Amino acid sequence: MDFTDATDGLSLEEVVPQLLTGVFGQNNYFYYPEIDSTNNLARALASGGYPEGTVVVAEMQTAGRGRSGRSWYSPAQQGIYLSIILRPAMPLREISRISLLAAVAVAETLEEMGLQPRIKWPNDILINNRKITGILAEAIIRMDNVEYLILGIGLNINNRIEDFPEGFVTPPTSALAESDCNYSRSKILQVLLWRLEYHYKQMLEGRFAQTLEKAKSMSIVIGQEVSLDTINGVVAGRAVDLDDNGFLLVRDQKGVINKVMSGEIFLPHPDIDKLREY
Ligand code: BTN
Repeated sequence: MDFTDATDGLSLEEVVPQLLTGVFGQNNYFYYPEIDSTNNLARALASGGYPEGTVVVAEMQTAGRGRSGRSWYSPAQQGIYLSIILRPAMPLREISRISLLAAVAVAETLEEMGLQPRIKWPNDILINNRKITGILAEAIIRMDNVEYLILGIGLNINNRIEDFPEGFVTPPTSALAESDCNYSRSKILQVLLWRLEYHYKQMLEGRFAQTLEKAKSMSIVIGQEVSLDTINGVVAGRAVDLDDNGFLLVRDQKGVINKVMSGEIFLPHPDIDKLREY
C-alpha cells in the first residue's frame, strides 16, 4: 500500500468505508476535530454500555494523557489520537498481553510504511531510539476480571522535528522526521485497526504465542542491561525474555530471574554519541 498522501483527515467518511476490519471501527466510529482526550470519551462511552470495537479518533487533543501522569503532545492534523473500547473475557493476570499486542500491531503498521520500529517494553515504539508512538491501556476491573479496557494510542506522523517542544523523557520523532515523506493518516489508521483486531482475535482464540514471538523479535530491550523503576523498587540486570503474559524477565547480578509486570526503562539519550564528540 502507498501511504504517502498527506492531504487527508480522519473523519468517518475518509476512514470507515475502506476499513477491512470485522468489528473495530465499523459500527461505532466517533470523530472529533478537537477533544480533551479520546481516552476520556471512550471511557464515558464504555461505562454507558458502548460495545467492543467502538473507536474514538480526534484531529487534536487539548489534554492528551500519557503514562505515569504525563501528557501526550497532540497537535492538530499531524498525529493519530485513537482510543478503542475492548471487553475481553480474560483474567486480570493476562491483561499485559493487550498492550503488548497493541505494540506489535503498531510496529507492524510502521514497518509496512517502510520504517524500522522497535518495541521498548512494555509498549513504547521507537525509531532510532526516539519515541514515535505511546500506548495507554486503562482497565476497569471487577472481581479480578477485566470489565472493559480503553486502549489509547498516540502516533506522531506528519510532525516536523523542530515543532516538538522541549522536555520529553524519551526524545520524540515522527514518520515524517524519519523518512522525509508526508503520510496519509487515514490509510495508516485503516491498517492499524485491522492489525489490532487481528492480534486481539488471535489472543482471544488462544494464539497469543505468535504475537509474543513478534514482540520479542522487535524488542529493543531483550539482551540489554536494564534498570527499571517498578512499584516494588528498582530492578537491575539483563533483560532476558518475555514470559507468556508479556512480563519482562530480568536476571540480576545474583542470577535471580525477576518477573516485572510494569515499569519504566531508561535508555541512553539517542544523541549520546554525538554529545560525546564535543
Ligand atoms: C505514553 O506513552 O505515555 C502513552 C501515550 C498515549 C497517548 C494516547 S493519544 C490517544 C489516547 N488519548 C489520550 O489521552 N492518550 C492516548
